Amino acid sequence: MRAHEAGALHGDIGHRGPAWLRTPVDVNALVPQLWPRNVARAADGALTVAGLGVRDIAAEFGTPVYVLDEDDLRSRCRDFRAAFSDVDVYYAGKAFLCRAVVRMIAEEGLHLDVCTGGELATALSAGMPPERIGFHGNNKSVAELARALDAGVGRIILDSFTEIDRLTALARERGVRPGVLIRVTVGVEAHTHEFIATAHEDQKFGFSLAGGAAAAAAFKVLDEGVLDLRGLHSHIGSQIFDASGFEVSARRVLALQAQIRDARGVELPELDLGGGFGIAYTTQDDPASPQDLAKRLRKIVDSECASERLAVPHLSIEPGRAIVGPAVFTLYEVGTVKDVDGIRTYVSVDGGMSDNIRTALYDASYSATLANRASTAPALLARVVGKHCESGDIVVKDEFLPADVQPGDLVAVPGTGAYCRSMASNYNHVPRPPVVAVREGAARLIVRRETEEDLLALDVG
Ligand SMILES: Cc1ncc(COP(=O)(O)O)c(C=O)c1O
Repeated sequence: MRAHEAGALHGDIGHRGPAWLRTPVDVNALVPQLWPRNVARAADGALTVAGLGVRDIAAEFGTPVYVLDEDDLRSRCRDFRAAFSDVDVYYAGKAFLCRAVVRMIAEEGLHLDVCTGGELATALSAGMPPERIGFHGNNKSVAELARALDAGVGRIILDSFTEIDRLTALARERGVRPGVLIRVTVGVEAHTHEFIATAHEDQKFGFSLAGGAAAAAAFKVLDEGVLDLRGLHSHIGSQIFDASGFEVSARRVLALQAQIRDARGVELPELDLGGGFGIAYTTQDDPASPQDLAKRLRKIVDSECASERLAVPHLSIEPGRAIVGPAVFTLYEVGTVKDVDGIRTYVSVDGGMSDNIRTALYDASYSATLANRASTAPALLARVVGKHCESGDIVVKDEFLPADVQPGDLVAVPGTGAYCRSMASNYNHVPRPPVVAVREGAARLIVRRETEEDLLALDVG
């Protein structure tokens, strides 16, 4: 790609789209693995979710709107619970958190991982049992740690020596012995189909394994005896499809487990392998099922424990995206359609990088479909863009839409449950969209739309 002074995406003359994107035989067809399980195209051509038409959703709640297929989310929780039956499944709340979702995942038997005071407050206010909450974060404040202790949070994942000292002091003051894990940076970076195993770890999270900080942290906690060290934790990346990264990380972290046993005579009873399991955003993605994942992870841990002569610890995992990502689509209204000199057709929708920053931030790929009707027009390669004052404001870089897509149409983008609403902003003072849960033909507002009054209420100058 040629550099362009107005931004990298300006210079991208890729109007035939990426190699993996094929012209669809039927531009109205839905690719099942991209959509929530209860989404279909009705006889009139419009999308429905759990039997409810998207035109009705748009009429009642406006656009843009995040539409959650509640039974899809619940079924993914159950799939993980069934596949990982003897493993604690912590839903990673950073992917998307609101009180209704906390209740859903709690009812489905999941635990919850939070990483700020705000996420903790949301979890507690929705009645999540505190003992099923894990508290992450590389810079938890004293106030946040104190609040977690006072709430009786089940486990705190230690991330720095400063934090060990802070938590130890707070626990002493209160006469409590909180359960803790040590976050180990194992020198594995995994993203989609690639992973890199390195000897050193240049990142802000956790204690370095190669540099000896992880072992020193474990010895410090054990020797001080104030905190209850339950185990080690590693999280290697995101949108991972290949288990080999987990193999290297489990080998490294269990070697540390053996080192701790040999030095202190303690076999830590728990091990957390983190999250990061990939989902399908486009037809190029082929994620493993929870059953496959469970089998592969179990095999890896069993064989590494056998070679270190360790008892297999009680396992936990932290999927976020794989639970909520596929359960949601964003529904937008088309505002303008612009053919730029035969190079590319830009379809502008009424949201953009404020409700989905992932395309701009991570160069993420998404899919889209015309949602309010079917069309007999031929497929046209389009770019779905937002309404923000930024040329990188792209929602879907390349997708085939019917050539007659026009202002007033609805476009749906699947796979937006994770890291979209939770990373949403008010850029250009655009209020953030609502989240609507649909189940058995009925829609329920679970996060309301922000209003201009909300924005102005913060502006007190
Ligand atoms: C420690 C930890 N656990 C779990 C997750 C969830 O990852 P994902 O949503 O990709 O499963 C993250 C994501 O950043 C994380 O940092």
